[in-house]
Amino acid sequence: MSDKNIYRAIVGTNSWGSKAYGKVLRGSGVDKETLRQTVREAMDKGLAIFDTAQDYGLGMGQKLIGELCPKQALISAKYTPGTKYAEGQVRRSFEKDLKDFRRDHVDIYWLHLPNFIEQNLSEMIELYKEGKIGNIGISNFSLDECKRAKKLLDDAGVPLFGVQNHYSIIAREWEKNGLVDWCKENSIQFWAWAVLEEGLLVPPKKGSKLSVMKLIYLNRQSRLLPLYKKMYIIGRRHGITAAQVAMAFCSSKGIVPICGCRKPYQITDLDAAADVHLTDKEIKVLEQTADSTGVKILGADMFRFAVRKG
Ligand SMILES: NC(=O)c1ccc[n+]([C@@H]2O[C@H](COP(=O)([O-])OP(=O)(O)OC[C@H]3O[C@@H](n4cnc5c(N)ncnc54)[C@H](OP(=O)(O)O)[C@@H]3O)[C@@H](O)[C@H]2O)c1
Repeated sequence: MSDKNIYRAIVGTNSWGSKAYGKVLRGSGVDKETLRQTVREAMDKGLAIFDTAQDYGLGMGQKLIGELCPKQALISAKYTPGTKYAEGQVRRSFEKDLKDFRRDHVDIYWLHLPNFIEQNLSEMIELYKEGKIGNIGISNFSLDECKRAKKLLDDAGVPLFGVQNHYSIIAREWEKNGLVDWCKENSIQFWAWAVLEEGLLVPPKKGSKLSVMKLIYLNRQSRLLPLYKKMYIIGRRHGITAAQVAMAFCSSKGIVPICGCRKPYQITDLDAAADVHLTDKEIKVLEQTADSTGVKILGADMFRFAVRKG
């Protein structure tokens, strides 16, 4: 499973695990059996790549991956650095991850934030050279930080696999400032997280359950009506839903969408959307309409507050 082409789309798991988290944030929790069926659908569709981190599902997400995912499934996990560094911290955290995953290896391991880049990446390079990590990626990095990380990895003879940043129809800053092109020029994958903006890019249905996210989004949803309309029209042309248009928007540009899936139909949708190619004209219409609404969610660099100064 080393061919990069298999990374068509990624199953996001940050709402796996805690029922309370699901209920409060998303309006409903899902049970273990539903997640089991979701995993089965992902395996059947060849979308067997699960993206996670220690805090997902209030700490339960990784354990569920270990319990529910068969050995052939690929795991994309992260080390989340704080604003202090203590030698050996990545290895210690990684060993805990392996216990959660019930494995001796992680397929892709990301440095979740650009804190202590040299120190943390050096530890990841050691794990890579020991064969415990299949690929190294970086997440929530600016272009300058990406270049710094790549230089360090190049010097160690280790490829930079990918950059995982926030990107969607309404959050395209990483494209505008050249990061996405830099990735393409260097054969580095760009993975987009929250392509549905945690539900904001799913046009609301009448009678759907209220949740914290939906309350936060209420005002923005009405401003996004022109975009929803275009997504519907374009989706109908391709036989997909408006939400799938947000996924296909990424894959049509060579960007790998990570989509939060906790129900089997969401895998089916993601798989189908990743094969749809929107035309340049359709992409332009979506971008222009999104820009004209002026709607943003904290911007594409929303975790900068957690990055150490200096
Ligand atoms: N690297 C990082 O710093 C970072 C940060 C955040 C997230 N991530 C990764 O990115 C993933 C995606 O982000 P996310 O899960 O927060 O948000 P998301 O994928 O943008 O949106 C999830 C929302 O979309 C809905 N949805 C999913 N598939 C759908 C479909 N086919 N049709 C209609 N609605 C659909 C879900 O509905 P339900 O509520 O009904 O399930 C949920 O409300 C995460 O799971 C995580 O793996 C990475």
